Amino acid sequence: MGKKGGTAVEPRPFIGRVFLSAEKKEVNMIDIEIDLQKEQQAALESLERVESPEALDTWKQAHLGKSSLVMTTFGKMGSFSKVERPQVGRAVNQVKVALENAYALKEETIRRKALLSAMASEKLDVTLPGYPVQRGRMHPVNLLMREIYRIFGDMGFQVYRSPEVETDDMNFTYLNIPPYHPARDMWDTFYTEDEGVVLRTHTSPGQIRSMRDYYPNPVRVILPGACMRYEQQDQSHEIEFMQFELLVVDKGVTFANLKGTMDDFTKRMFGPGAHTRLRPSHFPFTEPSAELDMACIFCGGVGCGVCHGTGWIELGGCGMVHPRVLKYGGYDPEVYSGFAAGVGIDRTTLLRYHIDDIRYLRNNDIRFLEQF
Ligand code: DAH
Repeated sequence: MGKKGGTAVEPRPFIGRVFLSAEKKEVNMIDIEIDLQKEQQAALESLERVESPEALDTWKQAHLGKSSLVMTTFGKMGSFSKVERPQVGRAVNQVKVALENAYALKEETIRRKALLSAMASEKLDVTLPGYPVQRGRMHPVNLLMREIYRIFGDMGFQVYRSPEVETDDMNFTYLNIPPYHPARDMWDTFYTEDEGVVLRTHTSPGQIRSMRDYYPNPVRVILPGACMRYEQQDQSHEIEFMQFELLVVDKGVTFANLKGTMDDFTKRMFGPGAHTRLRPSHFPFTEPSAELDMACIFCGGVGCGVCHGTGWIELGGCGMVHPRVLKYGGYDPEVYSGFAAGVGIDRTTLLRYHIDDIRYLRNNDIRFLEQF
């Protein structure tokens, strides 16, 4: 701003002229600015006449394309002096932004117009037949799981969920399988890169979790879910499979309770003719331990391919909860006792539906799944 009695330079509108402060020399910028103004006006006017996407494209080429005034002015930036450059830059930028905004608006208008006219001309024919919707159905394993929940629900058990990714301690140590103990080889699994985290090899770690949750009340739970093991896959082995765990902890729980419950389960699942036996075995987390066998339902116990000629089919393991496991769960083994069992759901599914290969359960062949 000029001051009264100050320099000779009067305040003027800045647009169109640049004053070089050092030399007080005036540079005429009017021409280029006028050209840009004219270009903006002409471009906006011609844009109003644009109606089609093709015409819009042509317009863009002409006014924002490589050889448009806006772009060539940008290209010539180097030929302006240091003082002129910011002013020219600002002017050309303003025009560019104005044209780009107008272009975007027009593009949207044209798009909407095209959509409206398409909607008017392509009327929906509601009498045309629709696409058929495929009816979904339950997976056989899920069907069986529901049946298992119902059977144990009737006996007073609750379903208790526990994680499929477990700590090494839950999966092994608290089940009386200490680190480096060879018993771990029976449940070789997938170790994660996080030390001490594994994909659970059985549902048994849920015993510890549910005991800690229920303490000091009695426990009567069924723990279903996926388990993972490092296995050679074949007709009866998968690296991923479903299992359910059974756990009862209370005062005065006996081996007779275990036998009665398991026998009742097989009868409810496979019919009143089913009968079981408990075969002495070993598991680190139960004492005593047993295998639960069911008389082969295919041959009636005479011996066939399914039971490998033995007349018996192995359903799972079971036993009285080991005192050390009760302690890890928080219960005093001097006061409480309990029984546990682990049964393969996939294998039970095979038996129940007479399926001869466990791999059918996970390869998602619709021809197989459709049969349930
Ligand atoms: N967790 C064992 C396994 O997957 C099965 C098992 C055996 C579970 C005995 C039990 C049990 O609860 O008492 O091989």
